[in-house]
Amino acid sequence: MIVIKRDVLTAEEFIDLWESVWDGAPACDQTKLALEHSAVTLTAFDGDVPVGMARAIGDMGLCYYIKDVVVIPSYQGMGIGRMMIDELLAFIKENGVRGTDIAVELCAMPDKIPFYEKFGFAANEAQRLRRYLEV
Ligand SMILES: CC(C)(COP(=O)(O)OP(=O)(O)OC[C@H]1O[C@@H](n2cnc3c(N)ncnc32)[C@H](O)[C@@H]1OP(=O)(O)O)[C@@H](O)C(=O)NCCC(=O)NCCS
Repeated sequence: MIVIKRDVLTAEEFIDLWESVWDGAPACDQTKLALEHSAVTLTAFDGDVPVGMARAIGDMGLCYYIKDVVVIPSYQGMGIGRMMIDELLAFIKENGVRGTDIAVELCAMPDKIPFYEKFGFAANEAQRLRRYLEV
């Protein structure tokens, strides 16, 4: 049985889950700082084994950004991504000001857009601007 837990994701688990689907995982100390400052992190466990993760950053009142949604390849297509997005949206609802709307945003590669559309996300004409800043 898959269980989703909040705020137990470690930097080491984040990096392992990242490396199951992407190259170029961030450094451990940078990841640890980012997880500590996320509004919520999720880990999907099969027993003791982390098989998925997701997190949201945000201000709780007006806006959130969903990041790093990953299900390891051998567990994809089993509904775990859906469980995690549902749980992120539940967290946002639980912690917002009742009677208001909160913007929830994310960035997706074209082949993942249909996945997010299932949860009501829709693209608009805005383009993402990004730069990296050396610290
Ligand atoms: C994208 C990802 C998180 C989806 O997780 P998942 O556990 O495989 O998805 P689920 O099994 O919960 O699927 C939920 C629904 O979305 C659909 N879906 C999943 N991936 C899809 C895709 N790429 N395109 C269209 N539909 C998709 C499923 O068919 C399912 O539909 P249904 O509920 O109507 O039957 C997973 O494939 C993944 O980790 N990919 C690699 C990392 C990645 O690209 N993350 C997204 C960053 S933007």
